[in-house]
Parts: sequence; structure tokens; C-alpha cells
Amino acid sequence: MSDTAEPSIWATYNAAQSDRAVRPLCLEVIELAGPGNGRTAIDLGCGLGRETDALLGAGWRTHAVDWEEGTRANLTASTAREHRERLTIQIAGFAELADLPGADLVYSGYSLPYIAPEDFARLWGVLRAALRPGAWCAVNLLGDRDSYAQTETGTYTFLPEPEARALFDGMELVKFEVEDRDGNAFGGPKHWHLYNVIARLPE
Ligand SMILES: C[S@@+](CC[C@H](N)C(=O)[O-])C[C@H]1O[C@@H](n2cnc3c(N)ncnc32)[C@H](O)[C@@H]1O
Repeated sequence: MSDTAEPSIWATYNAAQSDRAVRPLCLEVIELAGPGNGRTAIDLGCGLGRETDALLGAGWRTHAVDWEEGTRANLTASTAREHRERLTIQIAGFAELADLPGADLVYSGYSLPYIAPEDFARLWGVLRAALRPGAWCAVNLLGDRDSYAQTETGTYTFLPEPEARALFDGMELVKFEVEDRDGNAFGGPKHWHLYNVIARLPE
């Protein structure tokens, strides 16, 4: 990247995340799953790493994935020294991810929908293949009434509710919360249609 290149929209977004609280969905799955005790978690689309830090703090060995080059430096700076040996970082685009390490918890906050539907389907297969027996999965997905669907169809993945539910076939659906409301995003006002999901694979 040249010195004059603009930071990507995601880098700009992530830079604004340092003061926010850890996301409730992440806290909820950490509470449900209990102390990590060295078990493995994945934070897919970790951004600045607020939730990666929370997982590490709860005792999880944590594999953080994002395509932003700055992720490594951000996480290295934010991670407490005593947690660093439990952190691994992978700089990769979701569309190119061939596999993920076996995991007891996969968290993905507001990240999975931001790829094309055909890539999402493959990525979801990679995510499901990583889940060990008894593993927890906590993700935000975008529904088909989200206002981004009007401009980003084919670029991002918007799921009708039955299709979103079907992703978790064979898992216990612990939480399936639907948000269908006007609100705000980093880019301004929008209509949110979100599925906030926690599911668990049987032991
Ligand atoms: C809305 S941010 C969410 C970040 C963080 N999980 C949070 O809750 O603040 C989306 C994240 O996904 C990453 N991302 C978006 N598309 C991606 C892709 N195709 N491959 C890998 N990472 C991607 C971005 O770099 C960004 O960090």
C-alpha cells in the first residue's frame, strides 16, 4: 500500500471500536460455554479484537481471523502479555479460507454476511467442519429485509429466516433472536434485519 492510499472502510470502522463494550452475544456465549480452560475458540472477522481479548481473558486459546493487514499489529498491541501465548492470528479473506483449526467455540460478530452468497455457502461449510463435538457457535447474520439488501445483493449475503435457521441443522438452537428495526450503522441510518444466533453441536 502506498503512503497516500486511503485506509479501507473496515480499517476505518475497526479503528473506531476501541472504546465500545464487548458485544453482548460474545459475552453470552462465553457465559454459556464456561471457562475456556485452554479450549480453542475462533473469532472470525475479529476486527480490532475486542471479542478476541474477551475470549482470551476467559481462558480460551483463540484463533483470530480477518483480512485486514493491520489486524496483527492491533491484536499484538491490545493483547495482555500473559495471554499472548494462547493467541494465533490468521490474515485471510473468507472466500479463500480452505479450513480452520478444530474449535470448541466459534464466534463471528457482524462479519460473515460481508461476502457473496456462493462464498458464504463455502465458508459456512468450513466453519461447520471446524466445530468439535459439543462446540458452541455464536454469529450475527443479515436477513433479507436488511436495507443493505437493496444495494448489495450478490455482493453480501442476506438470508430469509428459514434459510438462516437451516444453517444450524443438527445443532441445538440455544438462541435465535430476530432484530427487524430502523437504527444506525457506522455509515449512517439504516434498517437492520439481523439474526443473533447461539447454537451448539451435540457432544
Ligand atoms: C463489521 S466488522 C466487525 C468486526 C468485529 N467482529 C466487531 O464486531 O467489531 C467486519 C469485519 O470483517 C472483516 N471482513 C469483512 N469481509 C471480510 C472477508 N471477506 N474476509 C475476511 N474478513 C473480512 C473486516 O475486515 C472487519 O474487521
